Amino acid sequence: MESLFPENDLLPLWVADMDFPSPPEVTRALVRRARHPAYGYTLTSEHYYDAVRKWLFKRFQWDVCQEDILTTPGIVTALALCIEAFTAPGDEVVIQPPVYPPFFSVVTQAGRHLILNPLRQTGETYLMDLDDLKEKISPRTKLLLLCSPHNPVGRVWTREELCALGELCERQGITVISDEIHADLVFPGHTHTPTALSHPGLPGRTVTCTAPSKTFNIPGLYGSNIIISDRVLKEAYQAVLERFHLSSLNLFALESAVAAYSSGEPWLESLLDYLYKNLFYLRNHLRAIPGVEFPVLPQGTTLAWISFKPWLKRGLDYRDLVIRRAGIALNDGSDFGEEGSGYMRLNFACPRPLLKQAMDRLEDASRLFWPE
Ligand SMILES: Cc1ncc(COP(=O)(O)O)c(C=O)c1O
Repeated sequence: MESLFPENDLLPLWVADMDFPSPPEVTRALVRRARHPAYGYTLTSEHYYDAVRKWLFKRFQWDVCQEDILTTPGIVTALALCIEAFTAPGDEVVIQPPVYPPFFSVVTQAGRHLILNPLRQTGETYLMDLDDLKEKISPRTKLLLLCSPHNPVGRVWTREELCALGELCERQGITVISDEIHADLVFPGHTHTPTALSHPGLPGRTVTCTAPSKTFNIPGLYGSNIIISDRVLKEAYQAVLERFHLSSLNLFALESAVAAYSSGEPWLESLLDYLYKNLFYLRNHLRAIPGVEFPVLPQGTTLAWISFKPWLKRGLDYRDLVIRRAGIALNDGSDFGEEGSGYMRLNFACPRPLLKQAMDRLEDASRLFWPE
């Protein structure tokens, strides 16, 4: 944090990992493996694929074949490889801002064009705008990068929404890259549907990016699973993976994923319970702070998308107030696209006393301008 925020003594509520220790089973597995002093090359075992397949089946009733799972060190890497594998320079790729910043950069850095299909905020939710998408698609539109659940707005897309999107993509010949890294972090009343299962045409045109990283707080180990059932798409992705020599996972990514997926479910359930309580704590406090708006409650993820537009309307520099005056390190919404201007993203995967401290500081800062 010190390298990115020069201010001292900030409360760290920005980057999307958690303050909580990973499941003890994961730590035990890593320590056990670290005690064996040979850290040589390794292959991905049947045991690994079994653990991934069982998890996907148990959590999402998704029966994935072992051959359809391609390991890749990290999801952003996989997104960049998909751009390389499935498009040519000058092709168009759709994203739905406000969205996770690398969705922009993996496209533009590869010399492909972005098609922006912004989400629409209506009352207490965000929706995809398929009419806008229909108008913007051209014969050069090859891919859509979908964030499901969505970072930063926290939408858990319903099967019906995904089906409507799938229908359009099938009609237009667009391949969907579905980033489902947050799929396990979903709150009561909502269900994550794998994009590939939401429309009969989608298994053949979807690349699904999954990982235990967000779920079990192991993102620094960089292990992800890219699921592709269509033979042509799979061969194209595999060719790029091999060209860049990125198909192996490191030893500790493999160990941690097996332990997490095989034994981490009770830990995850108690995590979700704690996060859900944090979310309501946050909502109750944010809604009482003058000038701060939190109309859209996240249905999943650990991220809250908070509007400071009333501060902006008064000509106040909300970033300066939040970071310098209140002393809270949050992500600036404009990093998620121009739709994010006036917003900041707060990660509530932290102990509640830290959240309380942040709310107290934010309230004090806002009272300076809204004393009533
Ligand atoms: C939607 C989304 N995709 C990918 C990532 C990062 O994935 P990785 O660290 O595996 O590259 C994040 C991290 O916040 C994310 O929110």
